[in-house]
Amino acid sequence: MHLLFISACIAFFYKINEVSGSDWCYESQDPCTSHCHGPDIWQKTNDAKACAGRSQSPINIVTKKTKLDERLTPFKFTGYNTVFTSDIVNNGHSVKVGVASSATISGGQLETTYKAVQFHLHWGSEGGPGSEHTVDGEQYPMELHIVHMKQSHSSLHEALGDKTGVAVLGFFYEESSSDNRKYEPIINSLKEITQTSTNTTISLSLNFLIPPVKNMTNYYRYNGSLTTPGCAESVVWTVFEHPIPLSRAQLKAFSKLKFSDGKPMVRTFRPVQPLNKRIVYYSASNTVLASVALLVVSVAVAIRLSWPN
Ligand SMILES: *[C@@H]1O[C@H](CO)[C@@H](O)[C@H](O)[C@H]1NC(C)=O
Ligand SMILES: *[C@@H]1O[C@H](CO)[C@@H](O)[C@H](O)[C@H]1NC(C)=O
Ligand SMILES: *[C@@H]1O[C@H](CO)[C@@H](O)[C@H](O)[C@H]1NC(C)=O
Ligand SMILES: [Zn+2]
Repeated sequence: MHLLFISACIAFFYKINEVSGSDWCYESQDPCTSHCHGPDIWQKTNDAKACAGRSQSPINIVTKKTKLDERLTPFKFTGYNTVFTSDIVNNGHSVKVGVASSATISGGQLETTYKAVQFHLHWGSEGGPGSEHTVDGEQYPMELHIVHMKQSHSSLHEALGDKTGVAVLGFFYEESSSDNRKYEPIINSLKEITQTSTNTTISLSLNFLIPPVKNMTNYYRYNGSLTTPGCAESVVWTVFEHPIPLSRAQLKAFSKLKFSDGKPMVRTFRPVQPLNKRIVYYSASNTVLASVALLVVSVAVAIRLSWPN
């Protein structure tokens, strides 16, 4: 019964689409009645054939199947502490900020230096599950994507034609009991951009957004795609293990934004995609070092304790 209903909806939808051509949307936008391309058929959107590819993002990260790669050392960030002023835009799918200063990442087994282009977020409904990547099936309330491209490319469009042209840093959020003050510029600006295609200016540095360096040593690495149409398979993904804390009120503030039809902009994530033989690497070397250090300390303590004096 349920299946029948779905195929009827798709058949109906295709008819509409032949006439009108339509934009892509998230599952939360009710693709059937809104006559937009839901995630199951994003590949029908213009220039989005790659959405049906075999190296798509996001994925569910199965920690037991990740492979330790000791070459995944901490990143080197430059310009991340430079404060810049930029437009924050409700683009109808997310909230996006162009990076209006020079900021780069290197190290972490990236083949070259990548420069920051923009960042945006994916979230749930009223602070509920909303991340794109999941870890052992767990979905976090929100996920930040800082999009970088190889410095040698002159545009994001050009970088998307290179298998490793784009490097996205993904960060999860977790609910904390108190407000994260560093997020105030973003949270406060949201009420001014509730309508699609509106923007306002904010001042911030990329460092405001991310955890301290010591909390960024553990991450996952795999090759994947953009998580919105065209879904280009040119992204070197880094998903950090350590989440960023935001209060419930701060997480909920994102649900005040609206899609172009005026409905709440919620659950703005693509469902996880098949891994298809790809390997997810993990940078645990630092955890191992830390636990070795702890072990050394505890052995030393044990020896002291066992020595009569
Ligand atoms: C922000 O809005 C202004 C006025 O509508 C517009 O000219 C500008 O291009 C917008 N900026 C972005 C990044 O969309
Ligand atoms: C950094 O990690 C420590 C230890 O896990 C944690 O207590 C702290 O809240 C983290 N800080 C941030 C800003 O994520
Ligand atoms: C990603 O693809 C590039 C180019 O094909 C390859 O060199 C690299 O090892 C791959 N990285 C991962 C993490 O699989
Ligand atoms: Zn994204």
